Amino acid sequence: MDSIEPSSLQSGERTPSCPQKGLLQPSDSSELVQECLQQFKVTKAQLQQIQASLLGSMEQALMGEVSPTSGVQMLPTYVESTPHGNEQGNFVVLELGASGASLRVLWVTLTGIKGQKVEPKSQDFVIPQEVVLGTGQQSTLISWTKGFRCSGVEGQDVVQLLRDAIQRQGAYNIDVVAVVNDTVGTMMACEPGAGPCEISLLVDTGTNACYMEEARHVAVLDEDRGRTCISVEWGSFSHDGALGPVLTSFDHALDHASLNPGAQRFEKMIGGLYLGELVRLVLVYLAQNRVLFGGYTSPALLSQGSILLEHVIEMEDPSTGLAYVHTILQDLGLSPKASDAELVQCVCAAVCSRAAQLCAAALAAVLSRLQRSREQQKLQIAVATGGRVLERHPRFHSILQEMVKLLASECDVSFIPSVDGGGRGVAMVTAVAARLANHRRLLEETLAPFRLSHEQLAAVQTQMREAMDKGLRREPSSLRMLPTYVRATPDGSERGDFLALDLGGTNFRVLLVRVAEGGVQIINQVYSIPECVAQGSGQQLFDHIVDCIVDFQEKQGLRGQSLPLGFTFSFPCKQLGLDQGILLNWTKGFNASDCEGQDVVFLLREAIRRRQAVELNVVAIVNDTVGTMMSCGYEDPQCEMGLIVGTGTNACYMEELRNVAGVAGDSGHMCINMEWGAFGDDGSLGMLSTCFDSRVDQASINPGKQRFEKMISGMYLGEIVRHILLNLTSLGVLFRGQQTQCLQTRDIFKTKFLSEIESDSLALRQVRAILEDLGLTLTLDDALIVLEVCQAVSRRAAQLCGAGVAAVVEKIRENRDLDELTVSVGVDGTLYKMHPHFARLVAATVRELAPRCVVTFLQSEDGSGKGAALVTAVACRLAQMARV
Ligand code: G6P
Ligand code: BGC
Repeated sequence: MDSIEPSSLQSGERTPSCPQKGLLQPSDSSELVQECLQQFKVTKAQLQQIQASLLGSMEQALMGEVSPTSGVQMLPTYVESTPHGNEQGNFVVLELGASGASLRVLWVTLTGIKGQKVEPKSQDFVIPQEVVLGTGQQSTLISWTKGFRCSGVEGQDVVQLLRDAIQRQGAYNIDVVAVVNDTVGTMMACEPGAGPCEISLLVDTGTNACYMEEARHVAVLDEDRGRTCISVEWGSFSHDGALGPVLTSFDHALDHASLNPGAQRFEKMIGGLYLGELVRLVLVYLAQNRVLFGGYTSPALLSQGSILLEHVIEMEDPSTGLAYVHTILQDLGLSPKASDAELVQCVCAAVCSRAAQLCAAALAAVLSRLQRSREQQKLQIAVATGGRVLERHPRFHSILQEMVKLLASECDVSFIPSVDGGGRGVAMVTAVAARLANHRRLLEETLAPFRLSHEQLAAVQTQMREAMDKGLRREPSSLRMLPTYVRATPDGSERGDFLALDLGGTNFRVLLVRVAEGGVQIINQVYSIPECVAQGSGQQLFDHIVDCIVDFQEKQGLRGQSLPLGFTFSFPCKQLGLDQGILLNWTKGFNASDCEGQDVVFLLREAIRRRQAVELNVVAIVNDTVGTMMSCGYEDPQCEMGLIVGTGTNACYMEELRNVAGVAGDSGHMCINMEWGAFGDDGSLGMLSTCFDSRVDQASINPGKQRFEKMISGMYLGEIVRHILLNLTSLGVLFRGQQTQCLQTRDIFKTKFLSEIESDSLALRQVRAILEDLGLTLTLDDALIVLEVCQAVSRRAAQLCGAGVAAVVEKIRENRDLDELTVSVGVDGTLYKMHPHFARLVAATVRELAPRCVVTFLQSEDGSGKGAALVTAVACRLAQMARV
């Protein structure tokens, strides 16, 4: 089992000639030296074992199961973002425990200008031993380490203790904003290069690391998105299986004599407070075994802590080390021979090489954790490093780098020495916390109008109900409540082949619908309606429609057959009969000329006539809401409402004929096309409309129209989000305040992005990928904010839609004077179907606002083309019955 020899020594560099196996030496002493130094040799397998066990214990602790035996803590630091480089402000920073029993007070100025640094002013205060070991007086100190032992502090909120002390002094008005672990300060002080430093490693008096973990993996946080900085506290790692084989008798001796025996075992093999002591214990052992200093041990050599980190660093200096060894040993009252000095250097090298290798195994464990946490096999990451051992020890850093390459070969790690990790880093944490708090405040202010209260939703429900009643009575109302001349839902006896057209949604479809005993079969073909046709002349549009029909008939071998045709025309039409519908106005980006005010069935028939040799029997024109209701009603007779939430939005329902002014008869039912997209066009939604809604409305081809639709449907939600993102960028909350050309582009932020971004299965980095495809450069914080904006906009849309449905089902219940109504709603539309939460939020709002209605939402599988065919089939059946 070969131990690893760090080859981190350049060729020609002087090395202490440490006794190797087989070198000629007085036999027992060289074996004893061999056996002694061999104890500090660690094999690759042992390092991999430590890496694996530490990773296991980290993941256990992340799940909230901190094992008392293996001991890493994985402490959330509540630092959720790394610096953006534009943080600014003046900060007082206290640094305690970073390097021994001293306190450093700093005044740090962050300019917020990249590369422009103001040197912090600082002063060091030595903490008298009686204070370090005396009485102490949010973040709770778990246990002292590194020689501190103040009473009355462990288990206490140290920030409160500091606030109390400031209060006791009474002289200062200092607001303690953050308490930060030094590893976090080191990470935050690191100058962002290619990417932010997301790991930090410290080897100073003690040792520890922190890194940015996915918040959803940290059980105690209960967050599902974003990242958070975790302080590993690997100093307390003590997995017997992994550490047992590498712990030497000297480690046990050191631990036994320490202030905290049994604790911080891993730290006691790596930290600067312990390296000198380990060397001393080995030297004492070798001296007492007459291998060193002729067997002489001086009182100084026998005194605990007499060899410091600085001594070890000096003694290992490749050029001046040996001279230092002599000086230091003489200061300890020893008279070393040259061979003694060489051997002392070997002992230092053995102790420190092991420390660097163990540290590498621990860092490799953190890298493996990041690979898993980010599901990235190949990881490119920057590690901020700090601490006297890493900064000053001649070989520690290179051994560490080399070992990390060996143990984490799939990771491309760049080590970034952190300048002044303590001061600037802590100021940076405070500045980032202040930035996040400020951004949070601005984001809340921006999104607050989208967070509708129960009262606001109930008011929308009431207003919609009033508008419905007025519309039915043909009084001025933003709801036209258009009779559709559909009086009954299918009863299942319909039969025959029908052609159907479906215009007005995302796609234009031509369908062949066979209604038979065994059910309904559908063959359909999707055709596009180019924008120039949708916004060209009416003649062009209807000629295009007939072209598609003819193409479909040819493909389906229907040429010369004149099948009854049902036309789903998803725009507001005043119907004068089943086959007569006057287009009131275009919506959803359509604007073909010479159509508004025209009977679209006539326009279609004219186009058929122009095409000659085409026989089509247009029997019915229906709105897509009606088609959807009929299509779902064929399966569920309780389906008495149709709802569309797609490019546009609208609803229809079966109203009592007696309530429909202007249509003869007062028994039975009539399906009413509400055209609720226009709800609020009379200004009644003004109290809910935001500046972003106004911008979208003003930029639309029908300003002032379809206000309810413009708050809900797929054609507009992406635009609302885009305007909010532009606003947040101008406030500096997003994209570091950099306005980007792409976000200025209309309709670039598709509504389908909301559905993708809000899908639970998408990690934030995938959210980021969507936005990067748009040409945006963004941080994870930005992605989190974009997600929140999408959630606020889609939630409002779903709630408003739910308030509308609640108004309708309550109307039906009251119409029938029922205590409780059970009803189904046929639904279609890309937004409703594709958005991960929309349907659930609509249903929840209906339950909240119409508790006496049991509402089932049926997603229409075949679209409203089937519904149009069924309406045609019912009309044909009724006409058939009327003829016999
Ligand atoms: C289905 C129906 C269409 C309806 C459309 C609305 O496709 O068959 O009649 O217009 O849904 O949704 P969309 O998202 O396409 O606008
Ligand atoms: C139209 C309605 C249609 C709805 C859903 C609205 O823009 O005015 O007639 O039902 O979109 O497609």
